[in-house]
This record gives sequence, C-alpha cells and structure tokens, in this order.
Amino acid sequence: MQNNLKISFIGGGNMATALIGGLAGKLTAGGNIHVIDKNPDSLQGLQQTFGVSAGGRIDSAIARSDVIVLSVKPQQIRAVVAELSPHLSSQLVLSIAAGIRTSDLTRWLRGYQAIVRTMPNTPALIGKGITGMFAVSSVSDGQRNMADAILRAVGATIWVDDESMLDAVTAMSGSGPAYVFYFIEAMQLAGQKMGFTAGQATQLALATFSGATELAMKSADPISILRERVTSPGGTTFAAIASMERGGVKDAIVAAIEAAAARSEELGEQFGRES
Ligand SMILES: NC(=O)c1ccc[n+]([C@@H]2O[C@H](COP(=O)([O-])OP(=O)(O)OC[C@H]3O[C@@H](n4cnc5c(N)ncnc54)[C@H](OP(=O)(O)O)[C@@H]3O)[C@@H](O)[C@H]2O)c1
Repeated sequence: MQNNLKISFIGGGNMATALIGGLAGKLTAGGNIHVIDKNPDSLQGLQQTFGVSAGGRIDSAIARSDVIVLSVKPQQIRAVVAELSPHLSSQLVLSIAAGIRTSDLTRWLRGYQAIVRTMPNTPALIGKGITGMFAVSSVSDGQRNMADAILRAVGATIWVDDESMLDAVTAMSGSGPAYVFYFIEAMQLAGQKMGFTAGQATQLALATFSGATELAMKSADPISILRERVTSPGGTTFAAIASMERGGVKDAIVAAIEAAAARSEELGEQFGRES
C-alpha cells in the first residue's frame, strides 16, 4: 500500500539500494525518495531503476523529508550528521549504521532526540533480512511505525527496549549469516572428502539448510523435537550428533556468539570515543 511518505537516504550503497528496492512503488512512490551520495554512478543507477531523486550533498531540501535514513558506513556517520544537524526540525533520523549508539548520535546532533537505531543483516539484500530496532523514548508511535514499515520492506523486524540488546542482535542475526556459511563450508568439505564434486557438495549442503530451515519455520514443534525425530538411537544422525557433542560444538557456538556480542559492545564504545 503506497502513501506519501518522504524518505531521504544519506548514502546510496548496498544496504540503501536494498531498502529502496523494497520501498519504491510499494510503501511510497519512487519520486518521494531522495538519495544523497558522493558517487554519481550509484545515483544514476538508482534514479533509472527506481525513479528516485538524487543529489551529491545534503542541502535544505532534506528538511522536507519525514524520515532521513543514515546509510553510510559507521566511520562516515560523524561527518554526515555534522552536515545534517542544521536541517533537522521534526524528521525521524533512522540509522542503519552498525555500532553507532543513539547517545552518540544525539550528542553529535546537538541534542536531537527523534532517532531510531537499527541493525539489519545481509539477507535484506534479497528481501529476507531480519532487523533489530531500538527507538529513543521520545520517538512517537507514528515514527516507530514508519521506521518499522521501512525495515519491513526488506524482511522481518524485532524491537528491543534496551539499546544494549542491539549488541546481542548483532551477534545473533547481524553476524549470523556468516555462522551459517561457516557450517555450510564444513559440510562442503565433508562432502568433497567423501567423493562428491564441489558442485554436488554445495547443492547437498544448501538444499539441506534451506529445507531444514523452512521445515522448522512451518512446524509448530520445537527445534529440539525436529532434531530428535531424525536422530534414532544407534543410527547415522545419532553418530553425527554424538561426535559433535564430544567435540563441544554447541558450547563453542554459544561462546562464539557471546564473543561477537562483546566485540560489538567494544566497537560501539570505540566509535563513541573516537568521535
Ligand atoms: N551491507 C550490509 O549487509 C549491512 C548490514 C547491517 C548494517 N549495515 C550498515 O549499513 C550501512 C551502509 O552499509 P553499505 O554496505 O550499504 O555501505 P556502502 O555500500 O559503502 O554505502 C555507503 C555509501 O555512502 C556513500 N557516502 C560516504 N560518505 C558520504 C557522504 N558524506 N555523503 C553521502 N554519501 C556518502 C559511500 O560513498 P563512497 O563509497 O564513495 O565512500 C557509499 O556509496 C553501514 O553503516 C553498515 O554498518 C550494512
């Protein structure tokens, strides 16, 4: 359903392109989307594909936006918000930059409070992402709904009440696709060791992952029950799971995700300190 929501993106790279692809002509008309990027080639592509308007720098036109999406790299945010600050009145600032805390954004924006911080993940690039979302307490319900609708253009959303939980979101779903790829790589290796070609091993591993995931999403049963159903005592799966338990695989995965959350927290502190 389209409305007249006016959205500006500062940064027209990978993630902005994914979001614009999900939004243009769906949530709002392409003509209601404005993209600012230093790179004229990216802008031309976005204009031609989605009918957005484009510009090379932030100017007073941005004041007409309902939502301003900060979609540059985390290291570029500080410079962008310094330019943006004089143009803010009541627009929602929606950050997708990993690790940049709302308290730092508010400080750099001289006390501006209408901020939603989000943590998307790379499957957003194909509309299958999941995004963790956090709103500063002064953000209105209407602005929360706008932010939610924008991120739902590229997948599911999950809201957290405590901003520090975005470090946990980063550790779970932000970095998560890499854990899945890592497991798939291990299955590919095993497949090739047992005599499959690289292509066959990849096909077997990928189809198993997507089939099992879809089965779990469609089933009302807990994941552990689904696993037990394919694990008859003394059988082949039983031998595999017993081997993983002996190798401490589950504990290692839990520790890995905790390590990612701790690193996310450290990086957040570093970004705030350095700027
Ligand atoms: N990609 C992901 O999967 C993913 C996942 C979660 C979160 N995120 C977050 O999404 C944000 C964007 O990531 P991305 O992968 O889309 O980055 P990207 O492809 O590098 O896009 C950023 C774009 O912004 C441009 N830019 C830099 N400084 C600018 C300025 N002052 N004014 C206007 N444009 C400027 C960059 O131009 P130059 O290249 O010339 O610098 C680039 O075209 C990041 O903060 C990241 O943490 C991304």
